[in-house]
Amino acid sequence: MALNTNSIDQMQVVPTGGPLGAEIQGLDLTHALPEDTVQRLHQALLTHCVLLFRGQEISDEEQVRFTNYFGQAVEHVRKQMPRPVKEIFFVSNVQKDGQPIGALGNDDIPFHSDLSYLRRPGTLSIIYAVELPSTGGATKWCNCYAAYEALNPDLKARLKGLRAVHRHHVESQNPPEMIDHPVVCTHPETGRKALYVGPHLTRYIVGFSEAESSELLRRLFDHMSQERFVWTHDWQVNDLVIWDNRCTMHRRERFPPTERRIMKRTQIFNDEIPYE
Ligand code: OGA
Ligand code: MN
Repeated sequence: MALNTNSIDQMQVVPTGGPLGAEIQGLDLTHALPEDTVQRLHQALLTHCVLLFRGQEISDEEQVRFTNYFGQAVEHVRKQMPRPVKEIFFVSNVQKDGQPIGALGNDDIPFHSDLSYLRRPGTLSIIYAVELPSTGGATKWCNCYAAYEALNPDLKARLKGLRAVHRHHVESQNPPEMIDHPVVCTHPETGRKALYVGPHLTRYIVGFSEAESSELLRRLFDHMSQERFVWTHDWQVNDLVIWDNRCTMHRRERFPPTERRIMKRTQIFNDEIPYE
């Protein structure tokens, strides 16, 4: 290992050219990161919302070490098969002995922010690509700052003070009480406002009639899905992506059920409850 491995002057932040995201070049995540490099990554994440690292051949422990630079990696709330490193959560359609080894299958997953059905949702998520299908399975991120900022002033005013219920369709995933969050949240670190609703987990606007709620949510979902807010990532094996769930929503495209996709996921939670 060269003395200056992962030094700040070797690190490059290359924006995707899309509405969010940057590729980080010059770092090798099999080695520890010095503090100033971590700080620069943290800043880059606040600026670009999603960071991509390519060609990383990392172990589970190295993924957890990387995750811990940004907070505390914790075991996912969903139970999974016994595994050597419990902070690693498998996102996969692969079955072993008739049991899925991971979560989320092969279908389309609409836009969502991770774990928004909890009072304290996920803050940052990290996915590491281990095995990929030959087609499909791309992940798309929406820049929810940009989506909010582009709303017309009347609609922005209408959203003020509104809250929406977020709930998982697998009922056992949910806490006993209904969880609601502001429709527009302020990012605690940047102070910027971002739209915080998505078709996968957001159910209805508190206090609205069903018709009024679905009309407004449909309008917001259509708005945020516009290409001008969305960046698509076509995965390569050994890609690692970290994203900020407080200013982005993501979705995954389906892939053939006959093909295998294995991703390793780590998670950081926020101490803060989302606020407007
Ligand atoms: C997730 C998720 C998408 C993907 O792990 O939260 O949405 O591309 N995954 O696997
Ligand atoms: Mn997700």
